[in-house]
Amino acid sequence: MDLGLRGRAAVVGGASSGLGAAIAEGLAAEGCRLLLWSRSLDRLEDVAGRLRGRLGAEVATHAADATQPGAAASVTEAARRALGSVDVCILNAGGPPPVDPLATEAEGWRTAFQLLAVTPIDLAQALLPGMRERGWGRIVALIGSTIREPIPTLVYSTAGRAALAGWMKTAARAAAADGVTINGILTGRVATQRVEQIDRDRAEREGRDLAAVRADALGSIPAGRYGEPRELAAVAAFLCSEPAAYVTGTFIPVDGGMLQGI
Ligand SMILES: NC(=O)c1ccc[n+]([C@@H]2O[C@H](COP(=O)([O-])OP(=O)(O)OC[C@H]3O[C@@H](n4cnc5c(N)ncnc54)[C@H](OP(=O)(O)O)[C@@H]3O)[C@@H](O)[C@H]2O)c1
Repeated sequence: MDLGLRGRAAVVGGASSGLGAAIAEGLAAEGCRLLLWSRSLDRLEDVAGRLRGRLGAEVATHAADATQPGAAASVTEAARRALGSVDVCILNAGGPPPVDPLATEAEGWRTAFQLLAVTPIDLAQALLPGMRERGWGRIVALIGSTIREPIPTLVYSTAGRAALAGWMKTAARAAAADGVTINGILTGRVATQRVEQIDRDRAEREGRDLAAVRADALGSIPAGRYGEPRELAAVAAFLCSEPAAYVTGTFIPVDGGMLQGI
């Protein structure tokens, strides 16, 4: 299937590793020009170098911290310099730390909401006017299955991402007539460094074998395995594509069947 993305300009967050890097590779393979951003310029340049070398992609990089209020403005300015106008924006960065849900703190909420809701909404809103004017745009946010079935220690993540989803559902309706779609991916467990670290931390906390912790996690996934980053990247690329023009305001699980609700 031709995704119709050749020459499109895309901004990809959290692109120095894991899911963001996999999406960047998928979009580069489809012929997109890219601005990759996260906090670490070195790691972004490693990813960019691979995409330039292997795929001949046009890739720029920019360092910004999504927990900081100025992040969206600095990414918008970097995108304007590197790409001119922007057609595709992948909203993604890191996740907040686990916390006892009955012992949350105001500062924890402030940081989580800046990271997961305020920065992505600011960035999307900075790019939306140009997309609407040109009559074409794609915004895809990496959210998480936890907004449908909360994970006990991830309350900062659940609440911050639910706020983003609330904005997305509302904004998708407001922008739909202008050829702009806004969709989310509800990630289950996809094998990245972050998931590896979460499993190791849990094994250490509970004094158990890593293998036993993994077996527990796999027990809740009907597919019987963690997902591969490229499997999630394929769904993201489709949501960014021309053929997906009539899909908006949706939240699509990529979770091997883990979510139990309909
Ligand atoms: N993998 C899963 O199964 C899964 C499931 C549910 C939700 N998620 C969520 O999906 C997102 C991506 O996950 P992942 O597995 O790809 O994690 P990852 O491998 O740890 O990648 C996270 C990316 O975000 C960047 N980042 C972290 N904090 C940032 C900040 N404050 N500002 C800007 N960039 C930041 C990191 O780069 P720098 O260090 O260079 O900043 C990195 O590129 C995370 O929010 C995660 O919580 C993942």
